[in-house]
Amino acid sequence: METQRDGFASSVGAFTATVASAVGLGNIWKFPYLAGVNGGAAFVLTYLLAVALVGLPILVAEHAIGRKMRQDAVASYARVVPKEGFWAVIGYAGIVAAFFIMAFYSDVAGWVFSYIPKSLIAAIRGTAPLESKAFISLSSGTWEPLLWQAGVVVFISIIVLAGVSKGIERATKLTMPILLGLLILCDIRALTLPGAFKGVQFLFEPDFSKLSGAVILSALGLAFFKLSLGMGTMTTYGSYMPHTVRLVPNASRVALADTLVSILAGLAIFPAVFAFGFEPASGPSLLFISIPAVFSKMPLGNYFTVLFFLLSALAATGAMISLIEVPVAWLSGKMNLKRPTAVLITATGILVLGLPATLSLGLWADVKLFNMGFFDLLDYIQQNLLLPLGGLAIALVAGWRLPKAEFLRELETAEPNKPWYIPVLYTFIKFIAPALIILVFLNGFGVFGK
Ligand code: TRP
Repeated sequence: METQRDGFASSVGAFTATVASAVGLGNIWKFPYLAGVNGGAAFVLTYLLAVALVGLPILVAEHAIGRKMRQDAVASYARVVPKEGFWAVIGYAGIVAAFFIMAFYSDVAGWVFSYIPKSLIAAIRGTAPLESKAFISLSSGTWEPLLWQAGVVVFISIIVLAGVSKGIERATKLTMPILLGLLILCDIRALTLPGAFKGVQFLFEPDFSKLSGAVILSALGLAFFKLSLGMGTMTTYGSYMPHTVRLVPNASRVALADTLVSILAGLAIFPAVFAFGFEPASGPSLLFISIPAVFSKMPLGNYFTVLFFLLSALAATGAMISLIEVPVAWLSGKMNLKRPTAVLITATGILVLGLPATLSLGLWADVKLFNMGFFDLLDYIQQNLLLPLGGLAIALVAGWRLPKAEFLRELETAEPNKPWYIPVLYTFIKFIAPALIILVFLNGFGVFGK
């Protein structure tokens, strides 16, 4: 059976593909804007703790279950504990989450893609860099964002049709290091702007009065979103991993690399926000306003802006491939559909949900459900409900329903001698991560009082 499934060719390929799923708009768009809205360093610190104490253990658990089962996420959870088929609910909830995320993610990705030609035109004409006005008219428009979004979904569908190892591995091995280099260049410029230090303080000097139950819950949700956890993406990726991969070191490197990219993005954005007098809490527009401003203070700045959004588009592509792979693997595996049919159905579903999400920022701005527009509602549900609860269920399966020896066998694969970190990690999966998720969740919804 194993030989018939497509998979990652090597352990290096498994690492880069996992990083490619994790690194995306979450690092350069969501992390900075949430840090800005939630008051800076205290949120960042909570986020770092969430990654280490909850995210990493669950990443390992997902990889282990995926590699043990070698099936799509729904089938993996349906069969992982014999006679307890109801765990398949993790996989089904994951498919719902994948659609919710893709609906707004493809809108944001559309903005990023559109900034490539927009900044290129500015560069060639030698006009002023893009300003907040340009972003507002784009994101609150009707046809323009919808067409970019549709273009993005078609583009991703074509890549996914090319197959797992070929499509994903090749592209990202090349582009990730270039993105990293460009971010560092951006950091150097931003940090040397007059007044930049205020931005560094904002990111690293915590004011704990800014923490509330809701803020802590969104930091936890962001940790799940960032590492692509809680919905079967990383289980699916685990199922593609060869037995040469040491799961704990691999996952630790992924979490570290991903967090580094977020911090580098924060260090590019916040110093500029303070240097130029922008509003740190300005929300989803933060990336699109501050990056062109940073580059405008550099020779050939408009060209760097083009390159930045080009590489961001590639990072978003890697993440979207991993999102779309969850329903596609399920439709083509369990439902026995041909891959092109599975991709077509998935893409159509994304566009059907994506249309009201995109329009909720403009034409339909007045339509509110639970006090939120549709874009915000989808984001809220996936981040604060679906992903943390999915992660909790995964930790419970791995820690409490699977025989310990069976689970540990996956973690010990390819390890020369039994390393110390495996029992430590197991304790986190079994006790600490689930306890923290439950506490943060209840606290986030005000169960312990405000
Ligand atoms: N981690 C990606 C990002 O930060 C988004 C993403 C990809 C994702 N696959 C996922 C989020 C699965 C949650 C679940 O941009």
